[in-house]
Amino acid sequence: MSNLPRHVAVIMDGNGRWAQKRGLPRTAGHKAGAETFRTIATYCKDLGIDYLTAYAFSTENWKRPPAEVDAIMGLLDQYLHESIETMARDNIRLRFLGDVSVLSPKLRALIEETDELTRHITGFQANICLNYGGRDEIVRAARRFARECAAGERSPEDMTEALFPDYLWSAGLPDPELLIRPGGEMRVSNFLLWQCAYSEIYVTDTLWPDFGRDELDKALAWYQTRDRRFGGLSTK
Ligand code: IPE
Ligand code: IPE
Ligand code: MG
Repeated sequence: MSNLPRHVAVIMDGNGRWAQKRGLPRTAGHKAGAETFRTIATYCKDLGIDYLTAYAFSTENWKRPPAEVDAIMGLLDQYLHESIETMARDNIRLRFLGDVSVLSPKLRALIEETDELTRHITGFQANICLNYGGRDEIVRAARRFARECAAGERSPEDMTEALFPDYLWSAGLPDPELLIRPGGEMRVSNFLLWQCAYSEIYVTDTLWPDFGRDELDKALAWYQTRDRRFGGLSTK
């Protein structure tokens, strides 16, 4: 496949509806969604895509009933336990974007361990956005820069569009060329607000647990038909 995006972002939405349609508890949908993430991450790596960034838990998802939040955190714990070795073996670097400092000490330790174990991997990187919010990310960046200015380490004029991304959770990542939203909602739900300025947005009614390799193929084929003008004129 030519003209592949280097970086694909995905809003892993539709887990709850997937479960409800089957008469299962919403948690079953989250469990199935974690499996889909595994499949899609491996497939992205096999295709030669460099980065996959997946929205797993937003800063707004704390509004859900505590039982669902607990179940999601429990599944994450289980997922990381299962993946910690397979990721290193399969050459997948796992990185976490978002404020994980509020998660349980057990989860934080697992995140730290996964990060350590896979940090040296350079081939493919999967980013999991946890307690992530695009606005939160931007506010934190502004705060950190302001602090550096106050400390005399930076001056306000230093700030540019090129420097700002260094202050984001996603520092070092290229912007995603393609943003995929399964579950049919036509909104970005506070995901990668800075980074998606020029991303192509692919929305499908397919629910995330049903999003398989063929669905990614479809999204990539659609991406390849896009005329990316970036405000200029068509070169086609
Ligand atoms: C996405 O699936 C997973 C999280 C937000 C944690 P949802 O749980 O939002 O699934 P729907 O949208 O209710 O179907
Ligand atoms: C977006 O899905 C967040 C994640 C998939 C982690 P939501 O289900 O939370 O988004 P809304 O509520 O439909 O905007
Ligand atoms: Mg949802």
